[in-house]
Amino acid sequence: MSDNVQFPELPRIEVPEHPVWPELAREEKEALVAKIKEQLRRQNAVLVAHYYTSSDLQELAEETGGCVADSLEMARFGSHQDARTLVVAGVRFMGETAKILNPEKRVLMPDTRATCSLDEACPAESFAEFCDQHPDHTVVVYANTSARVKARSDWVVTSAIALPIVRHLAERGEKIIWAPDKHLGRYIQDQTGAEMILWPGTCVVHEEFKAVALKRILRLHPEAAVLVHPESPAEIIALADVVGSTTALIKAVASMPHREFIVATDKGIFHKMQQVAPDKTLIEAPTLGVGATCQACAECPWMGMNSLQSLLHVLETGEHEIHVDPEIREKAVLPIRRMLDFAEQHKGA
Ligand code: 13P
Ligand code: SF4
Repeated sequence: MSDNVQFPELPRIEVPEHPVWPELAREEKEALVAKIKEQLRRQNAVLVAHYYTSSDLQELAEETGGCVADSLEMARFGSHQDARTLVVAGVRFMGETAKILNPEKRVLMPDTRATCSLDEACPAESFAEFCDQHPDHTVVVYANTSARVKARSDWVVTSAIALPIVRHLAERGEKIIWAPDKHLGRYIQDQTGAEMILWPGTCVVHEEFKAVALKRILRLHPEAAVLVHPESPAEIIALADVVGSTTALIKAVASMPHREFIVATDKGIFHKMQQVAPDKTLIEAPTLGVGATCQACAECPWMGMNSLQSLLHVLETGEHEIHVDPEIREKAVLPIRRMLDFAEQHKGA
């Protein structure tokens, strides 16, 4: 379906080096963590962290009454908190979603420059023009987009809820513009049979997994189960035993009888996987091999901008606050709420 469609030229994505944070001696780290805890308490703030952030941040979020989650759960969590400030350790769209859903709260991020290649691949203006050219299509956008793109959409979805929502729309006979991740879009199209135009964005981290090298590792570990995030290319998804959101992949490690898992997603997830299944062996899916560029090497450089140091800095200075234009917010909140309501109604389905 997307074959005959003309897309606007997409911006070139500059992928930064993965930030390197200074090693901390044990006492230094303890002192830093103590200061952060004190700031969180004084400012009535909770830390909401994604599974791809460092183990230090994940542990801190859990110890201080915050949460570590996938992007759907991160969106839900903030709304159920009394805290006045939400500190979102993740990438900018996650902070913006928290602000859109909780305009009365202050939302801080360790670094608001933490973008996402999918968000960058979908500029609001050209996307809106594209949608205007296809007025008979329902606009479904992945959460990894800007507030402005969400404001132009009918539905927002995350990887945890995309399949049932698109299936629901396909059953109603709706034609879909899907943006921005073409790999996730292709997977959902294959699973649902929905008629979809796929915006040609990609995740720079998942795009780098290599099927030939993965097959080689599988030959060395024939008993291993392959877990794949659906932002990965089709040839990687084809080798998967489980395809799903970060939460789904963590649950798979805990519940499947396998002893070994080859994991095709950001390495940050290993912390939680190892926590829920300490006796299982986790193997990184390869990003090296023929034609490899390995810019990200299974570590999102933007997620890497979150650290204990950058977190303390924003708590002390109030820098890196998220603001969303009220007019955009008013429009963007509708498709996000539609997703959350759908998820609530289909819990356990
Ligand atoms: P999840 O919603 O599955 O956590 O994915 C978010 C993401 O950015 C994956 O790259
Ligand atoms: Fe975006 Fe990919 Fe990073 Fe997820 S891993 S935040 S999709 S660039």
